[in-house]
Amino acid sequence: MQRIYQLLSIQVQQAIEVAFREEILATNISKNLLNPQIMPASKPEFGDFQVNGALSLAKLIKKSPRQIADNIVNQLNRNSKFKEVCLPPVIAGPGFINITLKEEYLITEIIHRAQDEKLGVPILQEESSKSNRVIVDFSSPNIAKEMHVGHLRSTIIGDSIARILEFRGYSVLRLNHVGDWGTQFGMLITHLKNVAPEALTTANKVDLGDLVAFYRQAKQCFDIDKNFKSSSRQEVVKLQQGNEKSIKAWNLLCSQSRKEFQKIYDLLDIKLEERGESFYNPFLESVVTDLEKLGLLVTDQGAQCVFLEGITGKDNNPLPVIIKKSDGGFNYSTTDLAAIRYRLSPPPKGDGACRVIYVTDAGQANHFLGVFQVAKRAKWIPNNCHVEHVPFGLVQGEDGKKLKTRSGETVRLIDLLTEAINRAKQDLINRLEKEGRQESIGFVEEVSKVVGLAAVKYADLSQNRITNYQFSFDRMLSLQGNTAPYLLYALVRIAGINRKSKDLLKKQMQVRFHEKEEWSLIRELLKFEDVIIQVEEELLPNRLCNYLFELSQVFNRFYDHVPVLKAEEPFQSSRLILCQMTGSTLKLGLNLLGIATLERM
Ligand code: ARG
Repeated sequence: MQRIYQLLSIQVQQAIEVAFREEILATNISKNLLNPQIMPASKPEFGDFQVNGALSLAKLIKKSPRQIADNIVNQLNRNSKFKEVCLPPVIAGPGFINITLKEEYLITEIIHRAQDEKLGVPILQEESSKSNRVIVDFSSPNIAKEMHVGHLRSTIIGDSIARILEFRGYSVLRLNHVGDWGTQFGMLITHLKNVAPEALTTANKVDLGDLVAFYRQAKQCFDIDKNFKSSSRQEVVKLQQGNEKSIKAWNLLCSQSRKEFQKIYDLLDIKLEERGESFYNPFLESVVTDLEKLGLLVTDQGAQCVFLEGITGKDNNPLPVIIKKSDGGFNYSTTDLAAIRYRLSPPPKGDGACRVIYVTDAGQANHFLGVFQVAKRAKWIPNNCHVEHVPFGLVQGEDGKKLKTRSGETVRLIDLLTEAINRAKQDLINRLEKEGRQESIGFVEEVSKVVGLAAVKYADLSQNRITNYQFSFDRMLSLQGNTAPYLLYALVRIAGINRKSKDLLKKQMQVRFHEKEEWSLIRELLKFEDVIIQVEEELLPNRLCNYLFELSQVFNRFYDHVPVLKAEEPFQSSRLILCQMTGSTLKLGLNLLGIATLERM
């Protein structure tokens, strides 16, 4: 209810200014202290909005809050525009003003939403969205290493944030900042040359099999074999100098990893543009020289660092961000500094973004704090631009410990997703049997895939991302509670009603409501745009999940209490509009979470 909120804010503010013109002039109160402090009502019985401003105003102009509220209400009652949309306001408690929207107004709004494919969410206009480029840096696994559950969280949360921003009309660049550079390649390339030298001479790519196992073997050689270790070090240098064979080996490793990652992205329906750390190599040296010129760089034990302001370590000394190591190598932070500069610089030299969002586990909070501070002090972040770390907690097993397989190994993502799909399939087969339903194999495959993946995504997104989250197949696949299967089922039920009533809905019919459950559903539907805007600001997709869950519950209450298909006109058509709206809101909402929906399940 953004529009009405803005409208009311202006009207209440004006009412205050008119009601207390003399007092304001006499005491010289600045206008921004006259904020009406209007917010959604805390309980439905209080109406739709609540004005709290009278209380703070009372202190400024030395009148009782109730008296002030009274004067504001008198002004509002004289305002014909206000009276068009609201019932006469009611004063409550010490001086709160409760505002209730008129039924006619709610009906106009809901009809307007029903005809709008964006369901009332304000969309940025073409031109402003171009100047509002947003980068979401998410997923970002490391080449040849495990893509673990932390990356899965980043992938799911980042995708949902990107979808919501795209829907709002921003031009979003989804960047996969893969770890494709760094000293680990020395050891990987050395190992590759030992075990599969033909890979570097034959034109056909050699399949290295399980790259994670390959990484482990390489690491083992590195740890026990001195010669291996020194070749690895030389290999890093060769790679950095652009030696042809080393680059070929590097490319081979990257492309094999990429194939494995892509399988997961395809399964999860995630679109990402790979731009790994190596992309920023050409810009690393200038990060050092420019920080040097700015006088921010300090040499400490051979390394070049920037000491942070206000961030200290255990010994109470300022923590450093190491820009260039004593061996001349660059750091993870150096790459991130080069990346910030590139991303915020206008094209053609950069991406021209105005907001950069980094989705990683909370363990990297200090890394980003440091990098952002250095970038700010170097004035690499223009005033109208924002960089934000979007942290999330750990994924735990049901025992509250780190998620592991039964035999104690780290869980492979592909296994985890396959298991979710298989379990969803078993649940479905059991349910079909119980209901005595016959369905095709295609149906079973499709439904279990959608439900299994939806369950994994939704379980992750419905938690406040900051907290750790316990991974439980049983819980996420349950048809009860705040789960994907529950929401998908609610949507299927509504889709069924909509199918049955296709020919019943009369377009020209006058819309009429008279049941309490109808008004609650209308009010709930009208909240959608507020939720989207809130998620855009706070980057908390769980707010959207909670809303969709609440909406399905309000819908169920409506459907249990109010006849729809058996109702007379104009009620039948009016209620069918609400069913349709609920269906499209759930569908769009789930879609913005990256969750596919079903017509039947
Ligand atoms: N590759 C890193 C990791 O696996 C995440 C990178 C996040 N993005 C960034 N710009 N630092 O932890």
